[in-house]
Amino acid sequence: MTQQVTHLPERVGNPAEPLASVNVLLGVSGGIAAYKSAELVRRLRDAGADVRVVLTENAARFVTALTFQALSGHPVRTSLWDESAEAAMGHIELARWADEILVAPASADLIARLSNGHADDLLTTLCLATSAPVAIAPAMNQQMWAHPATQANLARLRERGVRVFGPASGEQACGDVGRGRLLEASELVAELAAARGPRELAGVDVLVTAGPTFEDIDPVRFIGNRSSGRMGFAVADAAARAGAFVTLVAGPVHLATPPRVTRIDVRSAREMRDAVFAHVARAKIFISAAAVGDFRPQSVAAHKLKKSGASTLELSLVQNPDILAEVAALAQRPFVVGFAAETEQMEEFARAKLERKQLDLIAANQVGSNLGFERDDNALLLLWPNGREELPQADKRELARQLVARIAQLRDAVAS
Ligand code: CTP
Repeated sequence: MTQQVTHLPERVGNPAEPLASVNVLLGVSGGIAAYKSAELVRRLRDAGADVRVVLTENAARFVTALTFQALSGHPVRTSLWDESAEAAMGHIELARWADEILVAPASADLIARLSNGHADDLLTTLCLATSAPVAIAPAMNQQMWAHPATQANLARLRERGVRVFGPASGEQACGDVGRGRLLEASELVAELAAARGPRELAGVDVLVTAGPTFEDIDPVRFIGNRSSGRMGFAVADAAARAGAFVTLVAGPVHLATPPRVTRIDVRSAREMRDAVFAHVARAKIFISAAAVGDFRPQSVAAHKLKKSGASTLELSLVQNPDILAEVAALAQRPFVVGFAAETEQMEEFARAKLERKQLDLIAANQVGSNLGFERDDNALLLLWPNGREELPQADKRELARQLVARIAQLRDAVAS
């Protein structure tokens, strides 16, 4: 039975924000333009980004950590050797946290050190330790900018994929006129947003299920499965990063809710189904990543079952609703994506599932023998009515990003 929709939760986030859900690590190096970075923090936050700031030792001579702490809402780090800061969020964790590193202003010295791969302070270490894209916004005297050493360093950084925003030309703090001015804060935000590429699901409502379900046997026992929920949470995160309004119906897992995702916790398959049907009317895309238990005990014992000398125990199980198939059967249905965890004949079984459940797309993965569940990486085979795509072994976050891109592309094709 479909639950009556009374009210839907407020949508979280604003798709008009060009950097919604983006974690930006702002590095500030020592130069007079450092004061402009305070404004940049405001602009980045206005654009939806979560901003953490790292000052170099020289930057801290021009501007104070307190200013940036107040503006970013997070503690500011200046040193690699700060024990309490390392205990709170270690530098490697910080490097992983970042979706983008933006160094603004980037002084001639900082550019030289980055180009040589130095890691002798916190900011340069972070730039080496991150897998996130790094962008620099140079600011310096026009002679220093034009110097062949600086230009060679920049060329080397560009070659390695570092993006260079600006600098602009104009009057400089030192009185010179020429190239070397830091871009304006709004220009830097626009550059960063443009560099991140299209937000394929801006403003689209996406409903995701994730994790296992637990089917109670008695007050202390249940039937569950090994799903960690990581893939589904990564998908919810990727959809939110692509600009979607995401509702995540999560089975019992201990995972942090991704930013800007509305989470509904459930335990059993039937609770999951009720939560899904309470939200599906608004959804334009439904992604069923949960490992829903196919069966549940016919009845839940009110008291703990006793051994009472028995050597065997029989449990009578009944079938759970197939949430995915029910959503796919709706007259007004969203774009429907299922998952298939298979131990053998993956493509054949997954394509059969795609057809039987009338899905728009299925993401198949091989499980068993140390694959799939409880791991941070995975490989997926995407199948849809007229196509297939192999997503090779990668971190689940990266796979989720690729999956979301494919969903957005197929959905656009269906809609047009
Ligand atoms: N699913 C669901 N509700 C269920 C069972 C599965 O929504 N009660 C969804 C899962 O979230 C997943 C897909 O269906 O997206 C996986 O289906 P699965 O249970 O593996 O397929 P079956 O058709 O049951 O095939 P089998 O168990 O034989 O592999």
